[in-house]
Parts: sequence; structure tokens; C-alpha cells
Amino acid sequence: MAEDEVTKQPGEDAAPAAEVAVPAAPPAAPLANLDDRVRARHERMARGGAYEISRRGFLRGGFFGAMGLTLLATGYSFWNFMWPRKLLGFGGVLTVSKERVPKPGTEPVRILEGKFWLVNIKPDEGAFGDFGENGKGGLLALYQKCPHLGCTVPWVGTFQFQGQTGWFRCPCHGSTYTKGGVRVFGPAPRPLDTMLVKVNSNGSVEVDTGKITQGAADNPKRAVPYNA
Ligand code: FES
Repeated sequence: MAEDEVTKQPGEDAAPAAEVAVPAAPPAAPLANLDDRVRARHERMARGGAYEISRRGFLRGGFFGAMGLTLLATGYSFWNFMWPRKLLGFGGVLTVSKERVPKPGTEPVRILEGKFWLVNIKPDEGAFGDFGENGKGGLLALYQKCPHLGCTVPWVGTFQFQGQTGWFRCPCHGSTYTKGGVRVFGPAPRPLDTMLVKVNSNGSVEVDTGKITQGAADNPKRAVPYNA
């Protein structure tokens, strides 16, 4: 055996395994600017047909939505508060049916819900002596509140005063008024206040309890003719 001959172990004469070539990574794409990203998003939307909402967009939409709802609710509350309403009972227009309207010269009828007395005075019933001026008679709506200190004034059909029976007589300090609401006695500074009266064609009467006029000597002249 030659000196340079080297003993080889089995398998040593096989060729060395070739190294696996790893392809080099492509160079990183430059960071897309905002326009590119927006355009890409629109393209994705166009392809997919679905609207893509980012987290930021979702939060922004929620914020403005809540703001809008709050403004809407506030506006509605304000409108609801300011809108004039049709008042029922005292403060509004009250209809008194024909059946409840007193006949001329009879006792006044108390309309509790409207806080007034409905009287039907004859031409000579409203004034008394030097107190007040008589008119032609008709319907008067007298506010039940005493102009002195505000007590409710009742009609006292049995009360006799100055030779006459039947007066409005305040229970608090004794102010006394004719059937036409003219003050003839007591500390009240004026006659009973009156309310606006309108007669309907069917005989019912509308009294506007929100339109109150201060009582005066001409109370009886304010009576509205009633022929139903
Ligand atoms: S409150 Fe009616 S007289 Fe005083």
C-alpha cells in the first residue's frame, strides 16, 4: 500500500451535502403614507362591499351620536316646557252647560272648577243705592276671591242687610257685595272681579277664567245678555 494512500472509512468518500440556498428576503417596502393607506382601504371596501370601521372611527361615531342624542333630548324638553297648553279648569276656558245657567233673578250658581259664581241679574239687581251702576241685566261670572285678602266669598241667600236679603258676604272680614258683585260694606278695596263671558248658540256659556278684570262700579253693566 502506497504511503499517501489513506485508509477511508465507509461513507467517507461520499460527496459533502450541498448547502440549501435560502433566498434573500426582499427589501422592505417603504412605509406607505396616509394617502396610500386610505386608498388601500377604499379598494378593500370596494372589493369586499363591506364597510370597514376602525376603532377610532367607531369611538368618534359613538361620541358624536351620544352628543346628538343629548342635544335632541334637551331641545325636546325645552320645547315641551315652553309649548302653551290648553288649560282645563281654572286658568282656561270653561264651558257651562245650558242646564247649569241660572234663570234671571235666581240664586247664583257656584262653578267650583272655575272658581267663580255665575249670576244672572235682572236689570235692577246689580247696584244698590249709590253703589254701582245698573245695566240691562244678563250673565256675570264673578271671581270668588275677595279683593281684600283673598278669602273665598260665598253667596249667603239668607243674609239680611240694609233691608235686603241675599248678599255675597266674605266670612273673613265681612265685606258685603250685591248680586252683581258691587261692594257695599267692609274693608274690600273694590267690587268682586269679573271673568270674560261668551254665550254659545246652544245656550251653553264659555267663561275664560284666565281673563279676569278688576271689579268696579260698572260690574252690572258688564253683564252679557242671555236669552236661551
Ligand atoms: S278677605 Fe274678604 S273682607 Fe277681608
